[in-house]
Amino acid sequence: MTPQVSRTVLRLEASEVRELKYGINFKKNPEDGKCYIVFKDKDKARACKNQCKHQGGLFIKDIEDLDGRTVRCTKHFWKLDVSTMEYVNPPDSFLQDELEVVVSDTDGSMELVELNPPDPWTLDPREAQDLQPGELTLPHFEITRREAARYSHLCWRHLAAGVLVPGEKRCELNKHHCCAFRRMAECMLFARLSRLTIVHIDVEKGYTNSFSYSVISKVDEHLRFMILMDGVHPEMDTCLIVEYKGHMILNTVDCTRPNNGRLPQGVDVMMSDFAGGASGFPMTFHGGKYTESWKADFIKNERKKLLNYKTQLVKSLQPKIYCPFAGYFTEAHPSDRYIKETNIKNSAEDLNASIRKACPNTLTWTPSPCSVLDVAQALADQSNREAITQPPNTTKIYKDSWDFDLYLEELNAAISNDIFEHKSWIQFYYNWAGFKGYNLVIKVIETDDDFKPLDGGYDYLVDFMDLSFPDKRPERDHPYEEVIDKITEI
Ligand code: FES
Repeated sequence: MTPQVSRTVLRLEASEVRELKYGINFKKNPEDGKCYIVFKDKDKARACKNQCKHQGGLFIKDIEDLDGRTVRCTKHFWKLDVSTMEYVNPPDSFLQDELEVVVSDTDGSMELVELNPPDPWTLDPREAQDLQPGELTLPHFEITRREAARYSHLCWRHLAAGVLVPGEKRCELNKHHCCAFRRMAECMLFARLSRLTIVHIDVEKGYTNSFSYSVISKVDEHLRFMILMDGVHPEMDTCLIVEYKGHMILNTVDCTRPNNGRLPQGVDVMMSDFAGGASGFPMTFHGGKYTESWKADFIKNERKKLLNYKTQLVKSLQPKIYCPFAGYFTEAHPSDRYIKETNIKNSAEDLNASIRKACPNTLTWTPSPCSVLDVAQALADQSNREAITQPPNTTKIYKDSWDFDLYLEELNAAISNDIFEHKSWIQFYYNWAGFKGYNLVIKVIETDDDFKPLDGGYDYLVDFMDLSFPDKRPERDHPYEEVIDKITEI
């Protein structure tokens, strides 16, 4: 089968990119006459074909839209909000297929890229066969720290590749649960690891470890899988489709924009993340606009947006069964109490409730330790209670004690590392990180436990525009953040 390829459908030179105005821009490819819409806002640009999903009509500016986000179809007047790529008339109806926008770091040009085929899972379809009870189950089980580390971002086998592990007789659906696996996060991370939610297909079918993106890989006669790239972080995240006897399971956990937003409809099981809050932002920010009420509002809105987004995604894809899963950070150490109490996460139950309301035909399942969903039974009869094995009443759902010492010792030892004796470590570190060419200035201040500047602690500015370390802030307009770095022992 031919692998999925990407094709540039429109290229804008740097001068044309600079001329793009904020909001809606209509563009035409002079070579083939095809039309596109580019929506530019402060942070990024989004793009799509200028082609209505209804019957292919052409969009024009919607003069009734004062916000400059909506276009109107010239045929039957459907309306599309190009800032979200959602059709607003008819309301809550469709999503416009989006093109990937690739801006060159070197020459500033912009390319609109289309994935082809856009839906590779349709190329070699299989009829869904009958399943026997117990033949395809989604059990919740715990993993070891070693396994969890293997699933993390820093592991070369992260993502779907990491879950098809030679020597293990199971094909796990899990992608990973650990998010950014940084040393400083280890305490929080491992605090959660012994109670991660992992789901695997219990088919006892072996494995394969060779695959290409967007190509169906065959495990055996009945079991196949496909790995789709993420449109936003193609180098980091993937989405996974596993198919057993023609029954598809779609796992989009932590994939920002799987396959650039185009996904299979009506799959048997869909799984996605739900919690939010993995970055800890903005709880670790203070000063300026970062008041407690601003942060509380931000968290509330972001979590709500995530719930709505996931609900709309499920509504548009109409899976038969939906399962929210994926682990998330628990700020377990007492020194992280403030973040824990303020960085509220969504619960799987909240998302399932929202989905049940919006998609009454989709069966929702919230996995908990020792519970099992029998997909065959659930597909045959959604009301069959025997399809779900509940955990015993005595099952402990959440971990509530941790052994921090293993990690704290290492973190505390790092504070007195020799390198900090030499001021040159600052430049060394930022040069090594290599992040520059960005209009941002930060001030890093080392503090004590009460976040008061530490006597003799480091206190410096970094200008990421040219990666310099000035004594005072530059004259030009620039975003500015202060990073408070608590360096006392935990
Ligand atoms: S083709 Fe656009 S509304 Fe019908």
